[in-house]
Amino acid sequence: MAGKKIKTIGVLTSGGDAPGMNAAIRAVVRRALGKGLKVYGIYRGYDGLMDEDLKEMQAQDVSDIIQKGGTILYTARCAEMRTEEGQIRAAETCRKYGIEGLVVIGGDGSYRGAQCLAHQGINVIGLPGTIDLDISCTEYTIGFDTSVNTAMEAIDKVRDTSTSHERCSIIEVMGRHAGYLAMWCGIANGAEEILIPERYDYDEQKIIDNIIDSRRRGKKHHIIVNAEGVGHSASMARRIEAATGVETRATILGHMQRGGNPTAKDRVYASIMGCIAVDLLLEGKSERVVGYKNGKFQDFNIDEALAMVKGIDDYQFEVATAMSGGYTKDGAKKVLEDEEL
Ligand code: F6P
Repeated sequence: MAGKKIKTIGVLTSGGDAPGMNAAIRAVVRRALGKGLKVYGIYRGYDGLMDEDLKEMQAQDVSDIIQKGGTILYTARCAEMRTEEGQIRAAETCRKYGIEGLVVIGGDGSYRGAQCLAHQGINVIGLPGTIDLDISCTEYTIGFDTSVNTAMEAIDKVRDTSTSHERCSIIEVMGRHAGYLAMWCGIANGAEEILIPERYDYDEQKIIDNIIDSRRRGKKHHIIVNAEGVGHSASMARRIEAATGVETRATILGHMQRGGNPTAKDRVYASIMGCIAVDLLLEGKSERVVGYKNGKFQDFNIDEALAMVKGIDDYQFEVATAMSGGYTKDGAKKVLEDEEL
């Protein structure tokens, strides 16, 4: 469809919701209207596309939402979109309503669905909407900033009570298979241990030795930020308490990390990305994912975006380990000076 001027587009949110999705929806709708396009909001992700659950949006439909968490379009993880039948049905809805371009706000699973629609002749643009920061082509995803701030505030609170009771606290944060949320919280909260699936060596004895050592030196708390991808916080707490004699509690932050008012960064970046998505569709582009890399907004081919491997930034991890108690590069803990306790 490249080159043909489109007249009607759609926007949907898919997968786990993320704060800032509303700002992105608002931007898509208002940019589209401003460019003379008709724009449909599609409810409940691909499910809504298959069920024709959609509404033509006007500017006022997206007023008073930029500050709200969640997604006004609702969201779903749609198994049927993995089937050819589902993809055909979704494409049929697009054709019925004249939707030539679709903006999909979600994670990489959502882009696979988008790609299938592209193969059915619909132009698609993906926006990275996930708290996990696990999309390889971008250093920023809509919702991560809010989520990490929400988790950071919660961990600060756990730390207060942990210190009062002189306990060890394991706080599990979301992230699915990715450790970014945990790593950022670990740095931001000054955690003693940061366990992320990309780097954790499962040497629990090392953690136990650290706790015993820091207790000996008078430390009153021990904060372990554990990523969902490592998991098992409750059983880990029981083992640590048994081995150290230090009362240990596990707190799983859970879905509260996905809610709340988006931060300024999430509102602004989501707005910019929403506008870029519409501009790309107007340029006749398809199968692109909007990302933020090396200090600028860029778009990537979906295939390329899905093929890239997202690793943990080496230097960020080095900072995390250095700050969390002075691990050396080979994983051994350095003894901290007394004033750092
Ligand atoms: O992808 C976002 C995310 O919140 C992950 O961090 C988490 O693993 C998952 O979604 C939880 O999904 P659900 O809301 O379906 O329990």
